[in-house]
Amino acid sequence: MSLQDYIHFSHIGDDFIKDKPLLISKLVTQHKWSQKFYDKMESNVFSVAYNNLRYLDPIFEKTLTEYKKIFQDNIEIDEEKTKNESFCLIQNDECNAYAWHHHDAKSKGEWYDDSPTPLISSVYYIRLPSGSGGIKFKDDSEEIELMPSEGDLIFFPHTMLHTPALSTCREYRVSFNINIFPKNL
Ligand SMILES: [Fe+2]
Repeated sequence: MSLQDYIHFSHIGDDFIKDKPLLISKLVTQHKWSQKFYDKMESNVFSVAYNNLRYLDPIFEKTLTEYKKIFQDNIEIDEEKTKNESFCLIQNDECNAYAWHHHDAKSKGEWYDDSPTPLISSVYYIRLPSGSGGIKFKDDSEEIELMPSEGDLIFFPHTMLHTPALSTCREYRVSFNINIFPKNL
């Protein structure tokens, strides 16, 4: 199997978001505050502020519905943990985020408890101005770059190495990564 066989694309659009310009402006504002945090944490992503989470609720809801539709596994989702383990990435030509990583925190030694691992990782593309980079995936034998469209939702194994590709535009590319966790029964 090739890498692409493990990646699932859904186009869910954005008409379920009531006020998309407002959502983007809230996220961009938080991105601007986060500059110091990025440097300190050596990170390029931020957790959405508690008082902004409600603007993201339709994306969580839609992502979980789509997950159930595609994978039909009837596993109970831990919505709180899923929300806590979700991150916004905003980049442009001045602030790129080229960094290979995966979302298997356990293997990186970041968790010491018996938390379950994510069922899957996903990324939803809120805004992709012209000049935005896509997303790259790699393993020992292959490296691919996929170019999503605005309103696409990609599911991929949480252990799979990936990075956003470089953006050359000044306008902000905005994506939202949701790692879906099962309930720890
Ligand atoms: Fe990621």
